[in-house]
Amino acid sequence: MNVIRFSDLCASGQARGQRVFIRADLNVPQDEHGAITEDTRIRASVPCIQMALDAGAAVMVTSHLGRPTEGEFKPADSLSPVAKRLGELLGREVPLVSNWVDGVHLAPGQLVVLENCRVNKGEKKNAPELAHKLAALCDIFVHDAFGTAHRAEGTTYGIAQFAPIACAGPLLAAEMDAISQALANPKRPLAAIVAGSKVSTKLTILKSLANNVDQLIVGGGIANTFMLAAGLKIGKSLAEPDLLAEAQAVIEIMKARGAEVPIPTDVVCAKTFAADAVATVKKATEVADDDLILDIGPETAAKLAAQLKAAGTIVWNGPVGVFEFAAFENGTKVIAHAIAESSAFSIAGGGDTLAAIAKYGIEKQVGYISTGGGAFLEVLEGKTLPAFEILTQRAAG
Ligand code: 3PG
Repeated sequence: MNVIRFSDLCASGQARGQRVFIRADLNVPQDEHGAITEDTRIRASVPCIQMALDAGAAVMVTSHLGRPTEGEFKPADSLSPVAKRLGELLGREVPLVSNWVDGVHLAPGQLVVLENCRVNKGEKKNAPELAHKLAALCDIFVHDAFGTAHRAEGTTYGIAQFAPIACAGPLLAAEMDAISQALANPKRPLAAIVAGSKVSTKLTILKSLANNVDQLIVGGGIANTFMLAAGLKIGKSLAEPDLLAEAQAVIEIMKARGAEVPIPTDVVCAKTFAADAVATVKKATEVADDDLILDIGPETAAKLAAQLKAAGTIVWNGPVGVFEFAAFENGTKVIAHAIAESSAFSIAGGGDTLAAIAKYGIEKQVGYISTGGGAFLEVLEGKTLPAFEILTQRAAG
């Protein structure tokens, strides 16, 4: 990765006494009272902030929270709960600064959180006027917001264009290193699990992975479309019949390379989509017209688990069934445990996947858990994220 790394600047003493502006992704889920329900992204942002403080910098950190309307700050948009949680993690007071675009006063050793950057006018469209003002706030801009690295906004792109120095923070660098390790030069066999409700939203990823992976395990509504493409009946299950040709093309690309898209041989069906619906295990060839497929069957799960245990590298995005309902969680649970037990380097990302990892308590056995949702998917698609494009440009001088 050809970017300037903040860790190198700190190690060489270049951050001492400097005004450091860190763009983190502190966009965490909150309950209806604003309490943070899951703080992974805040914890993941701590090393960069600590690194800046240890290096003797004057440190500003900002993030978006949700998708507020620019110029119309509402209390629910506030980073106040985030600043409080950050303070607990760092063991120090973390003041929150509002209306900061025109100037922030702070000394080396101090740390402040700058209120929700998406409330600033011009942030989303990366207005040049805002970008110049943001850049004027700092000597060093640190992009450490992997979860937002696929957005070219004021604090993720514009500031990097004009700040005296623009570099990658440790989280951003670690995310890219982990994903590159998984995809660029992977230990084989390389297995990818891509699941979700629609083929259409993940078609580019499926096509891109079809040229690289040894097993492309599909799940959820995506698997239903692939079952249709393989000539199986899926009853009234969610699928996209218009994309059969695309699914078939993915199967053919894989076949031509001696790789495969394993099609389920058994499934768990219900007559309604409900937690208390009766779950019936059926052969994939025996799905009735009024059936809904809500999970892969035990035979399929066992076969996939064996492949995952024998894999060299695993990329996981998406649960393979409706794992929120106990009767339809077995497939996802078996896959999660197989990943945990596999000696493969595994990398996982996406909101539902993280929820499944937490549910089955396998956090420590997954090689790398990405903080990115959309950003993780775009890297899997083979796209160059705007954050990397601009940081690479700046590193080249
Ligand atoms: C996310 O939650 O995936 C990131 O914080 C990006 O949020 P956004 O989709 O609102 O840009």
